[in-house]
Amino acid sequence: MYPIQRNRRLRSNSSLRALVQEYHLSPNDFIVPLFIIEGKQKKEVIPSMPDYYRMTTDLLKDHVKKLWSMGLKSVLLFVKVAESLKDNKGTEALNPKGLMQRAIDTVKNAVPEMVVMTDVALDPYSSFGHDGIVEEGKIVNDTTVNVLAEMALSHAQTGADVIAPSDMMDGRVLKIRQRLEKEQFFDTIIMSYSAKYASSFYGPFRDALDSAPGFGDKKTYQMDFSNRSEALVEARRDLEEGADIVMVKPGIAYLDIIRDLKEQLNAPIAAYQVSGEYAMLKAASEKGWLDHDQIMMEQLLSFKRAGASLIATYFAEAAVKLI
Ligand code: PBG
Repeated sequence: MYPIQRNRRLRSNSSLRALVQEYHLSPNDFIVPLFIIEGKQKKEVIPSMPDYYRMTTDLLKDHVKKLWSMGLKSVLLFVKVAESLKDNKGTEALNPKGLMQRAIDTVKNAVPEMVVMTDVALDPYSSFGHDGIVEEGKIVNDTTVNVLAEMALSHAQTGADVIAPSDMMDGRVLKIRQRLEKEQFFDTIIMSYSAKYASSFYGPFRDALDSAPGFGDKKTYQMDFSNRSEALVEARRDLEEGADIVMVKPGIAYLDIIRDLKEQLNAPIAAYQVSGEYAMLKAASEKGWLDHDQIMMEQLLSFKRAGASLIATYFAEAAVKLI
């Protein structure tokens, strides 16, 4: 009770504040999402994601070496696929010489210790821009899941360490796990996007990959943002089906969900600070309305406080420079 207790004592200088600091950020926390394109020596600007680029695999090689030298230990790969290679079956997703497979190979050759994570969903390969196969205007679950399992296997065969299914189909973790076990990929990790909400925060990402849905929206598979307990149902099922890490996405608007999962589950929780969150801070700081670096660190720290042990973020490089 005041004045015996004064909460300000431990805040009175920066050394004291450092000594009682509860949560810390480290380069080990981050997953770096990367957008890969075909071609040579190309680094393309993404208008809705300032200072973030799509790059060709030759540039990827040097880029991951740089990331590694900064202490960053994992990348999450996404590919932008040519319109002519898109169909309604995910054919190109299974191409052993496809862009994703070449990108995995590039990273593993450049920095063998780098943890390579791959996005598994059909949207960049889909002529409809949907995460699954479309029949009569509907996204069909079970046919899609079979293709996703083959896609995951192809990534594992090429050297991916972590498969990250982001599609939100039912039973995909189980199918992927069974497929990997059958081919003796016993140690391939599954980081499931378990609580992935149907969110408007993904807009800039869909610009980056040209993967916006051609009709309708993603609400029949991604979660309704009005729901909370459903996230636990999803995450529990994914763990039962063989996931090793469960993810919550988007990030800042869903810290309550991260906390729920952390309290209820015994598994590492990942958070994805998505493209729209990145764009908001970039825009506000360009206008001089917010301090970019301060807000960035404040937001990233909030993921740790909420209970995340991995953070996928477009700010990874910038943050590491400030740590
Ligand atoms: C693909 C996928 C999306 C994101 C990650 N994987 C887009 C979507 O579901 O439409 C979004 C990432 C971001 O916005 O940063 N299934």
